[in-house]
Amino acid sequence: MGKVFEPNFIWLDRVDSTNSYCMKLAENGDPEGLVVAAYFQEQGRGQRGNTWESERGKNLTFSLLLRPTFMRVEEQFSISKMIALSICDWLKSKKIKPLIKWPNDIYVGDKKIAGILIENSFSSPILDISIIGIGLNLNQTFFSPEIPNPTSLLLLTGMSHRPENVLSELIMSIQTRYLQLKNGLKEKVSDDYLKSLYRFQILSNYSSIDGPFKAKIIGVKPLGELILETENGQQKSFGFKEITFENETKITTN
Ligand code: BTN
Repeated sequence: MGKVFEPNFIWLDRVDSTNSYCMKLAENGDPEGLVVAAYFQEQGRGQRGNTWESERGKNLTFSLLLRPTFMRVEEQFSISKMIALSICDWLKSKKIKPLIKWPNDIYVGDKKIAGILIENSFSSPILDISIIGIGLNLNQTFFSPEIPNPTSLLLLTGMSHRPENVLSELIMSIQTRYLQLKNGLKEKVSDDYLKSLYRFQILSNYSSIDGPFKAKIIGVKPLGELILETENGQQKSFGFKEITFENETKITTN
């Protein structure tokens, strides 16, 4: 495979957040392929204003700069799908069976092994800068009790992994999937994403502003909203902050 971008790796001993650092370099004109990784983040950021905790040197915390100028602003959720799939591809190469919890958490069973924080900037109508922040738990075995359901590769496989090696491999997985988007294979990326979706077609518990309800995930809209079908056959769609996944039920539909 020809390289879709040339990676330029920067490893930092510590930083506030690799996403913030990477964004500054992007705004100063750094080219696509910049990878900023840190052994420790003082203010690692997660989705919905949460923090991202990671024990010093144990895991992978990094940000990749992409300049997907071939994409329109309204296609930005494809980046999210492509990155989630790249992490799944890499985990599968380690004999793990990952799932994507909408929109882009990476799960193994009912536990989270990786999180993604994507920060885009636009020169409308074009996607100009995409900072892809990834936290992947490799060798951490104890987590703060506030973290809801974490796991790591070491906990799952009993094997430790060097963050530097994982980073190189993961960047190759991202290059493969990014090339699919560049080559117009957006539908393939969407199909693979749906196939990997946690709780896809499984009747489960959710809650929204209207209270708790049971439904099954039946799709995802192009802009990223989740489409659910309730028990009485009604279709509803939800944006990122509009729905919570509640505990899994044992009810499975055919
Ligand atoms: C989530 O909440 O699941 C997203 C977590 C994203 C964490 C990564 S770690 C590297 C990058 N830098 C950050 O500050 N956050 C992302």
